[in-house]
Amino acid sequence: MAGKLMNAVQYTAYGGGPDGLQHVEVPVPTPSKDEVLLRLEAVSLNPFDWKVQKGMLRPFLPRKFPHIPASDVAGEVIEVGPGVKNFKPGDKVVAFTSRNGGGLADFAVTKESLTVARPPEVSAADVVGLPIAGLTAHQAVTQSAGINLDGSGKEANILVTAASGGVGHYAVQLAKRGNAHVTATCGARNIELVKSLGADEVLDYKTTDGAALNSPSGRKYDAVIHCANGIPWSTFEPNLSPNGKVIDITPGPTSLVTFALKKLTFSKKQLVPLVLIPKGENLQCLVNLVKEGKLKTVIDSKYPLDKAAEAWAKSIDGHATGKIIVEP
Ligand SMILES: NC(=O)c1ccc[n+]([C@@H]2O[C@H](COP(=O)([O-])OP(=O)(O)OC[C@H]3O[C@@H](n4cnc5c(N)ncnc54)[C@H](OP(=O)(O)O)[C@@H]3O)[C@@H](O)[C@H]2O)c1
Repeated sequence: MAGKLMNAVQYTAYGGGPDGLQHVEVPVPTPSKDEVLLRLEAVSLNPFDWKVQKGMLRPFLPRKFPHIPASDVAGEVIEVGPGVKNFKPGDKVVAFTSRNGGGLADFAVTKESLTVARPPEVSAADVVGLPIAGLTAHQAVTQSAGINLDGSGKEANILVTAASGGVGHYAVQLAKRGNAHVTATCGARNIELVKSLGADEVLDYKTTDGAALNSPSGRKYDAVIHCANGIPWSTFEPNLSPNGKVIDITPGPTSLVTFALKKLTFSKKQLVPLVLIPKGENLQCLVNLVKEGKLKTVIDSKYPLDKAAEAWAKSIDGHATGKIIVEP
């Protein structure tokens, strides 16, 4: 593919939202030693993508301009680098490109270590939400909350906030697989959907009880997988079991102060900030669950690449139910 051009969507400066995206033709990337080149069938957007554009991770990301955003991709292997052992042209895969994006395009390169085979019966859209949202839910449920996905641990009481979102809808399903009692929060329109994903109790976050995170059955939470924004420690604290913890996937300055205070005072109730560490073996585990019909991706909406700005605006709006997908 060397020297060939492809369609891509990029931005050249911080800010601008959907209007900052430009449709361009750029060279198809060349896979290095341990990389595969994919022809993309589906790309999923995450709040991370527009947060990078807003400059919320400057000066680290993006590494340079122009920048092609998005890192959750699914497609077909076209070429492999000389060190790649497990993939060949024609294989269908799902992958995490890297935090440096490259996904909103016809083609992208991914590291072999973060690329996983996709079984033929599973569509690209079924798995493309897994790299960021699925892996974050997996890390929160298994590593941070200590739940075994085979259900072998003791039953824990788990609260998932923003359970209708990309991360939350996977977290509800994974916590249920681990035999947890799951309470969830979402908007009124999504209550039935979140119940259908396995939640035992669902709170509308706009009601008084929902805003207070009160379990309808009076349970105290062993872990909160906190996927929403702006809920203070004082709201969580009375709802936690004696050793309960809040796993905060959007830690801001206030929650980092709470994290430090709880550590320094040896509090039994803890706030744990979570930063995703993507692992190929966990992505493989999630793909297997999708194949076995034990995990599903709720799709909010799909857009062709030439409507990527609409998909971007929808993600910034913050009201997606499940995943927003772009299909190059
Ligand atoms: N730490 C990490 O490594 C990491 C990894 C992944 C994601 N994140 C962050 O985690 C957050 C969630 O990501 P996401 O992909 O799940 O977002 P998302 O898909 O955009 O979440 C949207 C959903 O959240 C619901 N929601 C918003 N505020 C809520 C509230 N106060 N209570 C209950 N539900 C609420 C919305 O419901 P309504 O439409 O009804 O309002 C909507 O369904 C983002 O800030 C993201 O950047 C962090």
